Amino acid sequence: MDYAIALVPGDGIGPEVLGPATEVLDVVGDHYGHVFHYVELEAGGKAIDSCGEPLPRETLEAAKQCDALLLGAVGGPKWDTLPGQLRPERALLGLRAGLGVFANLRPAALLPQLKDACPLKDEVLCRSNPQGKPHFDLLIVRELTGGLYFGARGRGNEGKSAFDTETYSWEEIERVLRIGYTAARLRRKRLCVVDKANVLESSRLWREVAAAVAQEYQDIETSYLYVDNCAMQLIRAPGQFDVIVTSNLFGDILSDEASVLTGSIGMLPSASLSSFVPGHKGPMGMYEPIHGSAPDIAGQDIANPLGTILSGAMLLRYSFNLEEAAAAVEAAVQTVLDAGLRTKDILNRSAVYGTEKKEKTEKLVGTKAMGEAVCRALAQTWA
Ligand code: IPM
Ligand code: MG
Repeated sequence: MDYAIALVPGDGIGPEVLGPATEVLDVVGDHYGHVFHYVELEAGGKAIDSCGEPLPRETLEAAKQCDALLLGAVGGPKWDTLPGQLRPERALLGLRAGLGVFANLRPAALLPQLKDACPLKDEVLCRSNPQGKPHFDLLIVRELTGGLYFGARGRGNEGKSAFDTETYSWEEIERVLRIGYTAARLRRKRLCVVDKANVLESSRLWREVAAAVAQEYQDIETSYLYVDNCAMQLIRAPGQFDVIVTSNLFGDILSDEASVLTGSIGMLPSASLSSFVPGHKGPMGMYEPIHGSAPDIAGQDIANPLGTILSGAMLLRYSFNLEEAAAAVEAAVQTVLDAGLRTKDILNRSAVYGTEKKEKTEKLVGTKAMGEAVCRALAQTWA
């Protein structure tokens, strides 16, 4: 099959991590006889520099014509002083809204190879894990095109006061919950709605909608947590979570917190979807690592490309329904980690100083070498 993939390399480390991800996709394409046509598009700081706006209309229009979009990262200090509407981040929001991808799936699991990079003690990891193992595997489903990010905002009192608003409609909440439930059915069948219903009216609506929708998913255990408690539970007993469904802002914050538990934010992929029917090719989806543009390490070949490579795997799974190929990419990532290859962010510090025998098993590699290793591991799977 032929597929069109929009590529938005963006700023900072974006282009560096996107390169390896497309190389991996090409290895997949060669093996299965798929052709991926890449359509490179400008957005973010790069677009501000070349045409004065973060999301040129042509970019959004061209993206809509593609089967999926893979994005590196946008933003950087160079554009930090621009007014809100002109900041690179507007490109992300504009793409999310413009493509209608309202459900953002952010999986965060502890890989056995990176257990030492997790800041939590075994005792904490075992707590509330049904198997009593030092492990967690959760999925944050973040509402992505509503809430505080898109509500009315402005200034009053001659600029001396400001407001942002959290608005949600029943439909917006219902559709993201349904995606959460669909995902939970394929996992451990537990779904936790995270809100601030003790204070916010919008959160009380979330609970009403959840109570109604839950009736249709009796096979899933539904629970509720306030977001402050959830933030605490994530570092107190992450093993208790399966699927978390929450608003745009809460999901943004909780997913950064969860990423630290996996060892590095550089590992985490994400998928932004407008529908999810397992076993079927999805409509246009947007895929990106959850880390940002990391301008401080850009251009040094030290960024971790695995979050973007794994985003490519999600793209294969959700937009193209190529489950076998997606699983092969994920397995290849495990293989290179098993072989001890580590980018700087996931290198065991003690190995650097040679105080543990891990020194012999962990090897520091750059962005490009990590990507090449994943390609080789994939090729070996099929050799
Ligand atoms: C994310 C990022 C973005 C967000 C920023 C860059 C606008 O933090 O994807 O989590 O807040 O959604
Ligand atoms: Mg974020």
